[in-house]
This record gives sequence, structure tokens and C-alpha cells, in this order.
Amino acid sequence: MSKKIAVIGGDGIGPEVVAEGVKVLEALAELRGWDLDLLPFELGADRYLRDGTTFPREVADTIASECDAVLLGALGDPRVPDMAHARDILFGLRFGLDLYCNVRPIVCLHDSLMPLKKWRAADCDFVVFRENTEGIYVGVGGQFKKGTPDEIAIQEDINSRKGVERIIRAAFEHARQAGAKTVHMADKHNAMPHAHELWLRCFQEVAEEYPGIEARHVFVDAMCLFMVQDPSQFEVVVTCNLFGDILTDLGAALQGGMGMAASGNVNPGKVSMFEPVHGSAPPLAGKDVANPLATILTVGMLLTHLGFEGEEARLTALVREAIETGHCTAEVGGRLGTRATGDWIVERLRQTA
Ligand SMILES: NC(=O)c1ccc[n+]([C@@H]2O[C@H](COP(=O)([O-])OP(=O)(O)OC[C@H]3O[C@@H](n4cnc5c(N)ncnc54)[C@H](O)[C@@H]3O)[C@@H](O)[C@H]2O)c1
Repeated sequence: MSKKIAVIGGDGIGPEVVAEGVKVLEALAELRGWDLDLLPFELGADRYLRDGTTFPREVADTIASECDAVLLGALGDPRVPDMAHARDILFGLRFGLDLYCNVRPIVCLHDSLMPLKKWRAADCDFVVFRENTEGIYVGVGGQFKKGTPDEIAIQEDINSRKGVERIIRAAFEHARQAGAKTVHMADKHNAMPHAHELWLRCFQEVAEEYPGIEARHVFVDAMCLFMVQDPSQFEVVVTCNLFGDILTDLGAALQGGMGMAASGNVNPGKVSMFEPVHGSAPPLAGKDVANPLATILTVGMLLTHLGFEGEEARLTALVREAIETGHCTAEVGGRLGTRATGDWIVERLRQTA
């Protein structure tokens, strides 16, 4: 198979963790004889501060027409307080490629990472499908009488029938393919009767197309409680943009921290973007301490999306082994730096090829 992957390191620790992901991709391509073309783009705060470039149209066009996937690090730099460059790049990719599924596995890979006393790593293994192109994050709204005692700020929550239905259907499709028995939908229709009545109705209607899968509704506040009390009850969860953002950070805590959480921004079957969930962590940048394992797990998701069967499971097993044996960064109990962690994974790939 011949595949082209756009690579955007971004800001802070982004380029450092992406470099380890690239090492893994290059090693796999060599070991398996794949024709992988990695296409780096220098985009991020440095470039923006140098020449004002955020996300040029020619880059967007190249990615959409020539690439099969994008690997992204993180964006955000204290020198750009309004996040102008980050917004253009992230939203340019998400909206430009219509990446409506933010897929975030909440999988704890080792007992040493499980923060809940009563539970083991194996009890935390589910995936959240977060709506990624609508909701309250689309920037519709305004401010009125700003800076006065009467000021008003309005942030609209946008939910289209098409948008809600397609993310719910993607969650059920995933459940069917993965052999899951349940799909939970987290909303707040008791307090948001307009937007989330639509979510509930769509959920019930789409569920009828999947008779073997139990559709369970859960209020999002209760979902936070249940994730901590008993994470084992969840297999596939679908929710809106805002609630998905919050639930999956709680989920990252169940996985062992931000350095362990992978994600895909997916339009099924189309060019999609994969990134670790964490941000650019400016205080860690340049110190070789950032955990690259979220990015390596993200590379696994990217390879599954591209049709390279079995590689995600192999990388996940090696990440588990890295944690088990301490070949990881201090944040997850290890003794290695960012680069040495990536090197160890590559070495194990070669030994087990
Ligand atoms: N998708 C993205 O690009 C994205 C996501 C979240 C935040 N951000 C941006 O990143 C910047 C920093 O944001 P933040 O501090 O809220 O979130 P962050 O994820 O960068 O950091 C949160 C905490 O997790 C730790 N952490 C994060 N990644 C880690 C890793 N790989 N290894 C070890 N520890 C890690 C950090 O040290 C910090 O304590 C901001 O500019 C924010 O807007 C970008």
C-alpha cells in the first residue's frame, strides 16, 4: 500500500512527541516494506510570529487532495495569547476536512496507571465519540455592551439534525464492528430541552437500526459520577462537542494522564487527522521529558484508519510493555526521556517484527 501522511508538529512539546511518532512510522514502513510518504509542514507559533502564516490554502488543498491522513502534535504558545494560529490550523483541518468524529479511546493500559482504588486497568476500556464540528464551539454568538456593567455575552449551541445523526450513527457503526453490546449517549435534555431533545430523539431512532446493541441514555453529570464509580459499564459513548471535551479529559485521568490519551479526528473513509489529546505543555518543551506514548498510540489509530490491520494492537501492546518495564517517562513511572522512550519502542518493534 502506498500512503501519504501530512505531519504537523506544531508548538511546545508537539514537535518532540511527533518526532517519536514519525520514528515509529518510519521503522514500521521499513520493516513491513510499506510505501509511506511523510510530508512535513512547518506550521505553528514560530512560523506565525515569523511571517504571519497560519494555515495557507495551498497546504489545506494539498492535504485534502494528496494526503491520506494527518499526524498533528499540539498547538498553543504563550507568545500568541489569542491563539490565532492554532484556531486557523485546528479549525482549518476539522472543518475543512469535515472531521465530525472525535474518537477518543479511554483505555487504561496498566494497573500502575489506574487512579481508582477499587478498579484495575482492564476495567477501563471504552471509546468516546465526540461530535467535532458543531455544538457550542463553533463560535456563533457575540458580545453586547462589552466592558460596561450591562455587558452581555452570548455563545450559541448549534445542533443540526444531520450533524447529530451522523455522529450517533458512527458510534453505533463502531459498536457493531467492535462487537460492543451497548452504546451510551450522554446529554442534558432535562436542562437543555431544545438541543438535547434532538439528541435523544436521534439516538432512539438510530438505535432502532442496530437491534443487537442496547442504547442507553445517561445524563452527562451522572456520567462523570459513573466513570469514577464504575468505568467498567461503558463500551461506546456518544456525546456532543462540549460534553465530549470534558468527559474525555476525565477519561485521560483514568488512563494515567494526558501523556497516555490518543485521539482521531475522523471522517470515516476519508482524509482524517490524528493527534494526542494533550496540548503543547509549554513548561515541558525542550526538556526531553514529555511522554510520547499518547502520540505512539495515536499513530496506531492512524494506521488502523489507513487499513494497516493489526498494527494498532501491536503498538498498544508495546506501550503497555514500556509502562510495565519502566521504559517510559517519569510522568508514568519510568526513567527515560522522550527520545529514549521512542527509541525503545522502535527497538522492540524490530525485535518482534
Ligand atoms: N489540540 C491541541 O493542540 C491542544 C489541546 C489542549 C490544549 N492546547 C493548548 O496547549 C497549551 C497548554 O495547555 P494546557 O496546559 O491546558 O494543557 P496541556 O495538555 O498542554 O497540559 C496539561 C497538563 O498535562 C501535562 N502534559 C500534557 N502533555 C503531556 C505529555 N505528553 N507528557 C507529560 N505531561 C504532559 C502538562 O505538563 C500539564 O501539567 C495551551 O496553549 C492550550 O490552548 C492545545
